[in-house]
Amino acid sequence: MDRLVLEGGVPLKGHVTVSGAKNAALPCLAATLLSAETVTLRHLPAVSDIRTMVKVLQALGCEAQIEKDEDGFELTAVLGAHDLEGSGLRAPYDLVKTMRASILVLGPLLARYGRASVSLPGGCAIGARPVNLHLEALERMGAVIAIDKGYVEAHVPGGKLHGIDHTFEKVSVGATENLLMAAALAEGTTVLRNAAVEPEIGDLAAMLMEMGARIDGLDTPTLTIHGVEALHGCDHAVIPDRIEAGTFLCAVAAAGGDVVLDRIVPDHVRSLIDLLERAGCAFTERQGQNGMQLRVQREPGQRLRARDVATAPYPGFPTDLQAQVMAVLTQASGISVIKETIFENRFQHAMELERLGANLRIDGGTALVAGPSPLTGCTVMATDLRASATLVIAGLVAQGQTIVDRIYHLDRGYAGLERKLQALGARIQRQGGGSV
Ligand code: EPZ
Repeated sequence: MDRLVLEGGVPLKGHVTVSGAKNAALPCLAATLLSAETVTLRHLPAVSDIRTMVKVLQALGCEAQIEKDEDGFELTAVLGAHDLEGSGLRAPYDLVKTMRASILVLGPLLARYGRASVSLPGGCAIGARPVNLHLEALERMGAVIAIDKGYVEAHVPGGKLHGIDHTFEKVSVGATENLLMAAALAEGTTVLRNAAVEPEIGDLAAMLMEMGARIDGLDTPTLTIHGVEALHGCDHAVIPDRIEAGTFLCAVAAAGGDVVLDRIVPDHVRSLIDLLERAGCAFTERQGQNGMQLRVQREPGQRLRARDVATAPYPGFPTDLQAQVMAVLTQASGISVIKETIFENRFQHAMELERLGANLRIDGGTALVAGPSPLTGCTVMATDLRASATLVIAGLVAQGQTIVDRIYHLDRGYAGLERKLQALGARIQRQGGGSV
């Protein structure tokens, strides 16, 4: 089992290019099921969740060719869901259990074929992760859904889903994505209210429109989709990963340094930029060769100020950056209050940060962080994807050696993080079999 070994205390310097967004790539991969024509997806991050989703598509009968780019951080995929009938349209448990976003194949399969059998994803370390919001809305579109032996068994008696005017009782990224894809081929018009507005949904909608879908209300909580007969292929480049970008911003804020991030959309991490600026970091945005650049500086002597933060749906502070900012705030002077409002169990990294010397108090969905706390390296264990990134950030700060175990969690969502950090001067090595 791989692990990362770090020697902390070195400020980060140089340039890093942000890879494509895992959480945009996953729904975009699912959307290839909507068309019988070839779809090319570029800037997919070379992470295990993407490889798992491609395996799910292949299990459904989709042809797939994957090409790794020269530095190994991204992939280009050429996919062909030409005719899936013979596959049984079944997404198997052994794949879905490792990557719960597989549930995103349900909407496209029902929209195109009128039936699907998808293993229930089950919970994960950060929470129960139900899919009731997905299933309720699909039933309203005409699907008959039963749970049988851990599988969602769904079919559309009338053959085609029909449009609905639907208000989600809770903002859900995945449910918005599933229903957006289902509505693209449904009969009539679908209105989705209280929809999530994360940038990844805008990217999925952009891809669907490149395939011929008719969608109004982009980047607003009310999406109107006029169903079409069929969707053609496309060649789509996935947006940069705002969570990977935010992770690097937190690494510089915590360890100190001066780093330029290439291929970033600063507005996608505006809430984090604002927080770190108020805490004492400096930012400069400028146009680079391949898109916007963002420079982040925190001189090692520059003290950080404590800040309060509460996670919220976009454009609020992302829950996927809550763990990383906790590592930063352990180095800030004063008491910071972090409220996690999206998931019920997303403070598992706190116990591991305490082992490194952080001074924290967890009370339900609230964490109190007292700083600055000197961190001392030791062996810590990753519990989930973003928790593992946080432990890497803390290891960049801690005096002495930090070993982060179980980094298969990290490999789910970060392509070559240790190589990107090495290029910024960090003392970090991977031990074990090597990343994906
Ligand atoms: C997406 O998960 C992301 N994953 C998560 O990123 C991210 O944390 C989350 O959105 C919130 O931004 C992908 O995009 C692949 P939700 P998703 O549906 O769609 C509850 C990472 O680290 N809910 O917006 O599963 C749910 O339990 C991952 O990259 C229901 O109750 O999140 C949660 O409390 C972690 N019923 C809240 O809504 C449902 O049917 C938000 O979940 C669906 C969700």
